[in-house]
Amino acid sequence: MVELAFSILAADFAHLADEIARAERGGGTIVHVDVMDGHFVPNITFGPPVVQAVRKVTKLPLDCHLMIENPDDFIPEFAKAGADMISVQWETCPHLNRTLRHIIDHGVLPGVVINPATPVDFLVEVLPMVHHVLVMSVNPGFGGQKFLLRSVERIAHLRRLRHEMGLNFRIDVDGGVADDTVESVVRAGADMLVAGSAIFAGGKAEENAREFLRIARAATAVSV
Ligand code: DX5
Ligand code: ZN
Repeated sequence: MVELAFSILAADFAHLADEIARAERGGGTIVHVDVMDGHFVPNITFGPPVVQAVRKVTKLPLDCHLMIENPDDFIPEFAKAGADMISVQWETCPHLNRTLRHIIDHGVLPGVVINPATPVDFLVEVLPMVHHVLVMSVNPGFGGQKFLLRSVERIAHLRRLRHEMGLNFRIDVDGGVADDTVESVVRAGADMLVAGSAIFAGGKAEENAREFLRIARAATAVSV
C-alpha cells in the first residue's frame, strides 16, 4: 500500500497542528520531521521539543529524518520525544550497524537514508535490519528542490535487491516528489512517499494530499 509521509518542513509553523490535521484529512498517514543541524546540511530546523509538541496533536506515526552529525547522541532524546521511526543518513554513520541497533533498542523503527551520490549497493549489509530505506531524490537541506531523475533507477535497483534478498523493508523517497514525479517513483517501487511543498502549498494540505494520493495510487509498481 502506497502511503504519504508529509514533510512538515513546508508547513506554516505558526499553525502546525492545523496543518497536520489538514494533511491527515487528505489521507496522509505518516508525519515526516526533517531535523537539520547546520553542519551535515546547510540549514537548521527543529529538534526534540518540536517532536514532543507534534506528538501531542496527532496519533499518526512520526518519522524523524535526522540530517545531523553524530546522530547516536540524540537517538534517546528523539525516542523519548515520541518518534515512532528514526531515519539516519548513511553518510553520518561510520558504525551504522551499531546506530541501527541503538534505534531498535529504544523501541523505535530504524530507517537508513542515502544521498544521491551514495551507491545503493553500500546498504547490502544492513538491509536485513531496517524497517525502511529512504532514497534522497534531492541533496538534503531544503524543501522545494527539483527532483533528480536518476533517483527512479536507484529505487528500482533497491527494489530488485529487496527481491533478491527475500526481504520486506519499505522503500521511501524524499525530495521533489510532487504530482508530476510521483507516478515514476511508484512505478519504480517506492511505497512511502515523502512530500513537503507539494502538500502544503497554498495552505491547502487536505486537497493537495488527496490529489497527490489519487495520482500515486493510480500508478502501480512494474514487476521486478
Ligand atoms: C530535504 C528534506 C525533505 C523535504 C522535502 O532535505 O529531507 O523531506 O522537506 O521537501 P519537498 O517535498 O518540498 O522537496
Ligand atoms: Zn526528509
